[in-house]
Amino acid sequence: MTAIPKKNTPANTNTTDKHYVTLIDHQTGRQFDFPILSGTQGPDVIDVRRLYADTGYFTFDPGFTSTASCDSTITFIDGDEGILSHRGYAIEDLAEHSDFMDVSYLLLNGDLPNPAQKKDFLHSITHHTMVHEQIHNFFKGFRRDAHPMAVMCGVVGALSAFYHDSLDIHDPKQRVIASHRLIAKMPTLAAMAYKYSIGQPFVYPRNDLSYAENFLHMTFSVPCEPYTVNPVTARAMDRIFILHADHEQNASTSTVRLAGSTGANPFACIAAGIASLWGPAHGGANEAVLKMLDHIGSVKNIPEFIKRAKDKDDPFRLMGFGHRVYKNFDPRATVMRKTCHEVLDALGVGNNEQLKLAMELERIALEDPYFIEKKLYPNVDFYSGIILKAMGFPVTMFTVLFALARTVGWIGQWKEMIEDPAQRISRPRQRYIGEPPRAYKPLHRR
Ligand code: SDX
Repeated sequence: MTAIPKKNTPANTNTTDKHYVTLIDHQTGRQFDFPILSGTQGPDVIDVRRLYADTGYFTFDPGFTSTASCDSTITFIDGDEGILSHRGYAIEDLAEHSDFMDVSYLLLNGDLPNPAQKKDFLHSITHHTMVHEQIHNFFKGFRRDAHPMAVMCGVVGALSAFYHDSLDIHDPKQRVIASHRLIAKMPTLAAMAYKYSIGQPFVYPRNDLSYAENFLHMTFSVPCEPYTVNPVTARAMDRIFILHADHEQNASTSTVRLAGSTGANPFACIAAGIASLWGPAHGGANEAVLKMLDHIGSVKNIPEFIKRAKDKDDPFRLMGFGHRVYKNFDPRATVMRKTCHEVLDALGVGNNEQLKLAMELERIALEDPYFIEKKLYPNVDFYSGIILKAMGFPVTMFTVLFALARTVGWIGQWKEMIEDPAQRISRPRQRYIGEPPRAYKPLHRR
């Protein structure tokens, strides 16, 4: 079958698009025209919604490398140019000039808040940070050494058992309150997961602190003495939240959208997103980067690990490198590297051995023909773990922080999908390569 772009109005589509492709089935000689749709930025798309109905063929795209699953107005990524923007604002500008609440409002509502809008939004988020006291009991069912991501999957999903007044996804007011509850309670639950793992008492949120300050307070303070949040750490935490807030149709966001397409409640959908993010190929990479750096141990061992990363027979990959979309520097990694130096210098650990090892690994990898040819650059996860470790977080909490920040992106994308009038259940097809029809074999003849 051949695809030929044509310039006149297609015969078999209900569109006035002048730009479309014609598929020619060389076996039957049949021709099929499919419109090409343009977005604001980025590649045009071939609208194949009628492909199966008109041709009897499916498309085949395991991993969805060439598939646009939806229309979206929230985030744009140009992988070749290393561009990331939210509602048209460059990530570099948002990281430099905004705070996470600004960006959360932007992702949810389409533009940066004015002072009155920001005040109302902050009031709503601040006054939903506590969780129902019964939720404390859920933690007691876990072993103390449970991975915090396992705990988060459980307790976030459990929220749907507590907030019956925000489960009707067709009620706009309930969608808003569910969104605010999730954004507000994720830091509280994440801090509780950490406290539970170290046997310390849970710390309640405080309404006089900013979002990032409150999270650090709930995580690192203890009832026995006053705790002052380090402003450098708070600013870095807020910026790390911004850099992880949303990222187009990545695996966990697609999981949330697919779960949401069935009408599942938002708390259950976010729990599904947390489960998907956990994988080391996705959000679990920041934890995997630190484990890899520990495993490499010293600069002299780097060549051996670079060799292993290139060996097809060796499952080892350079964690924190490569990306399905970015074939250039991940713009978040650039901001993260700058923040890493700022935080470690401010905390007086600028000569951090792991940072030096990471920088040498990055330098060597970026000069290696394999990484150059395959366009493997450091991604958002490469430096984030070094900062988080310097801030006092255990490695097992890194992906929890990613989930905390990405919740606003997940819920923003969920809301966009639910509010799309064309929304329907997502149900991909397959290419069946199993057994052909065969006669049943009774037990005595098997
Ligand atoms: C995140 O989608 C998102 O937007 C995700 C994310 C977000 O914000 O939501 O950006 C967050 O998940 C960042 C990525 C974190 N993951 C890692 O750092 C894990 C290490 N990276 C790889 O596992 C890999 O690069 C992926 C999973 C990120 C991308 O995988 P792809 O797109 O399926 O690419 P691929 O596996 O087909 O790799 C292409 C080639 C392969 O070689 P060939 O088969 O062509 O010979 O590059 C090689 C791979 O073997 N390769 C690597 C490599 N990553 C890819 N070789 C060594 N080390 C690596 N890290």
